[in-house]
Amino acid sequence: MKKKVFSALLALAMLAGCSNGGDGGETPADDGAKTYNVGVSIYDYNDNFMTLYRNEIEAYFKTLETDEVKYNVTIVDGKNDMAEQTNQVENFITQGMDVIILNLVQTSSADAVIDKVVAAEIPLVLINREPMGTDGDMSYKGILDNATVCYIGADARQSGTFQGEIVAELPDHGDINGDGKISYIMIEGDPENVDAQYRTEFSIKALTDAGYEVECLADQVGNWKQENGQTICANALAQYGDDIEVVFCNNDAMALGAYAAIEAAGRTVGEDIYLLGVDALAECVEMVENGTMTGTVLNDHIGQSHTAVDVAVKALNGEALDNYYWVDYVKVTK
Ligand code: BGC
Repeated sequence: MKKKVFSALLALAMLAGCSNGGDGGETPADDGAKTYNVGVSIYDYNDNFMTLYRNEIEAYFKTLETDEVKYNVTIVDGKNDMAEQTNQVENFITQGMDVIILNLVQTSSADAVIDKVVAAEIPLVLINREPMGTDGDMSYKGILDNATVCYIGADARQSGTFQGEIVAELPDHGDINGDGKISYIMIEGDPENVDAQYRTEFSIKALTDAGYEVECLADQVGNWKQENGQTICANALAQYGDDIEVVFCNNDAMALGAYAAIEAAGRTVGEDIYLLGVDALAECVEMVENGTMTGTVLNDHIGQSHTAVDVAVKALNGEALDNYYWVDYVKVTK
């Protein structure tokens, strides 16, 4: 009896496989479920924020599985190497992935990759690193011109503005020594990323727009990395000492590094210096709570990863996609 049920199920499974087989590479699983193959490449596994993001992509795909539909998700490390990532995308194409989710190493290489994936007729969901069009954001031709290519992200201007507002809302508005200006250092992410460009610009713009005077003591690239944040902040503290009132970091990883330098220099966040990041990594939210960080901004990896997966599933179902999908940032203060 058991055997009979099994073979009936198998026959059904094969039928389902045939009717859904089409030109997609989805594979019928033994148990009758249809399995979609999903290729994901993350720019660098060493990135704290993208680690949370990729884990959530995997976890969320799992929650969407049913008896009928499974997702076979392959996630690979781009190792911060565009040539490596291009190979990975080519492999995804050869392997017949049904959809590709891509966190580009270099947005300047977006066209080359988009062309390959579009030619292979595979939907492409770009995440986190927005390729910039000639008219700024939301104007990338490769996204606008291809119905199966889209971008999911958060508007980095908002995160920068929130950082500036957090400082403006402090009782002394960031002017600890009362000399009439906010003296700061800026620790930047990878300057090729619009997230770094906008956070650098809009954090300060929020202050100047509100009528505060600012003085930039140092502005250095830390490439999103904790160790660079520490070195840059330590050097700036050695050079400018008490003149530094605010340390702006384009992300929390660099803020964690900066905090180590601040502590080593005998300075106290909230008393004689302020420290800002972006992402709201769990350890940084805790630091905001206990006062060792002035504030951070939630870069909603859950909202972004879920949107990316939902959009990928839409694409798998042949539904029409928007060009751009946005998830809001949220201010995190005590
Ligand atoms: C995050 C950074 C991360 C970068 C990677 C940004 O949105 O805030 O922490 O390193 O994305 O591209």
